[in-house]
Amino acid sequence: MENIIKNELEAQRQLNIINELKERFEKEYQKTGIRKTFHIVTFGCQMNSRDSEKISGILKQIGYVPTDTEDADFVLYNTCTVRENANNRVYGRLGHLYTLKKQRPDMLIALCGCMMQENTTVEKIKKSYNFVDIIFGTHNIFKLAELIKTRLDNEKTGGDHSDHMVIDLWNDTDMIVENLPNDRKYPFKAGVNIIYGCNNFCSYCIVPYVRGRERSRNPQDIIDEIKALAQDGVIEVMLLGQNVNSYGKTLNPPTSFAKLLQEVEKIDGIQRIRFMTSHPKDLSQELIDVLGSSKKICKHLHLPLQSGSSRLLKIMNRKYTKEDYLDLVERIRKAVPDIALTTDIIVGFPGETEEDFLETLDVVKKVQYSNAYTFLYSKRTGTPAANMDNQVPAEVAKERFDRLVEEIHKSVQNNSKRYENTVQEVLVEEVNEHDSSLLTGRLSSNMLVHFPGDKSLIGKIIPVYLKESRGFYFIGSQL
Ligand code: 5AD
Ligand code: SF4
Repeated sequence: MENIIKNELEAQRQLNIINELKERFEKEYQKTGIRKTFHIVTFGCQMNSRDSEKISGILKQIGYVPTDTEDADFVLYNTCTVRENANNRVYGRLGHLYTLKKQRPDMLIALCGCMMQENTTVEKIKKSYNFVDIIFGTHNIFKLAELIKTRLDNEKTGGDHSDHMVIDLWNDTDMIVENLPNDRKYPFKAGVNIIYGCNNFCSYCIVPYVRGRERSRNPQDIIDEIKALAQDGVIEVMLLGQNVNSYGKTLNPPTSFAKLLQEVEKIDGIQRIRFMTSHPKDLSQELIDVLGSSKKICKHLHLPLQSGSSRLLKIMNRKYTKEDYLDLVERIRKAVPDIALTTDIIVGFPGETEEDFLETLDVVKKVQYSNAYTFLYSKRTGTPAANMDNQVPAEVAKERFDRLVEEIHKSVQNNSKRYENTVQEVLVEEVNEHDSSLLTGRLSSNMLVHFPGDKSLIGKIIPVYLKESRGFYFIGSQL
């Protein structure tokens, strides 16, 4: 209760700051006739995409207008640190931003997201990228307006620019600040956070260190948000969390993800429910039963495998064996025979032998995934795996990676062939990026189909004939 009041007070405080800045920006606009622009670049996963919608909502409310290029008054990078190459991309782009900022000194540059939760990153930025104006993390996005205000109020006293850099980083939080502005990318579908953080500490993964401990949102807040979205025209929701299957365990009274899904199912107007990501160790029989009986939950489950070797899974701290995983898949397929399964797999985890890798290939052959995200192991400082000796040589990992991708392609092809010459319900999402005569829609299984059609169909669920499978997508036609 105390926490709820604290969160509500904080939300009100932030709304006040947003309004104050809005007035200030409006006055400037009256003088100059020019609105200030913003541009957000989002790296990483769907949690970050969702966070960027919140950031965009706050900026719009203040009076910034979006623009497509980085030549803007406010540029923000929402960063990811799950693998090293994500970090390198940010540093590369920051160099380019510096050139732009020299031409427009009033430009504000902000960095946030998972990379900022690491001390070494922030030290590096302070030292080598001191033209950055604002740094914040994953726990205090709701404070963005306040940080902008602080930066704008910082008097220019000369001296080192880093004196003016506003840095606000929290190690962890128990706060969940609701009801701040929000800017949805699509009018007809929306991501909804249900649980923040991760408690699993898989030995290769930096996420628990940068996103903090698991915090479930109050079920009523989630339901109210989805009802409001439905009222606003949303027909598909994606429930988001690093590990949705442990939703509700720490709430008082405790509840479960399966129970939450059943409540979401009852909401009028919502036609499709998706969720991401499931940890195999927490996927309960209760949830499988709900998947089997639901009319709205999409026929798609993302179930990260990481490795097929029980020996490596133990060292990875995944808390399931190869056999547990295969048994789970069997139970899921029994309940929902036409479900599409997708996965994440890491190749080259420290100590991975050819035998371990063959176990992974074996699971891929047995499960027949509809899609899989494959990653070369990336050493993340601060995780237990970073200190393990026997790191796998890059060329060995690369060779295994290629073999894995080849095997996955086979199962992707096999799976999509089965849908050829069938008619499927499709949510039309957008005009095709490369060919404007085509629309792009999403099947319940999460696969995409491109087909000729008019953009007035965007946001509708319609039947589409799948003429030809091209592996990861289909070419279709309207009935
Ligand atoms: N190296 C490579 N891949 C990783 N992932 C997480 N940490 C690492 C790492 N250190 C992958 C996992 C996870 C996905 C989001 O990213 O497969 O499921
Ligand atoms: Fe990382 Fe494991 Fe948590 Fe996923 S479940 S975010 S892989 S620690």
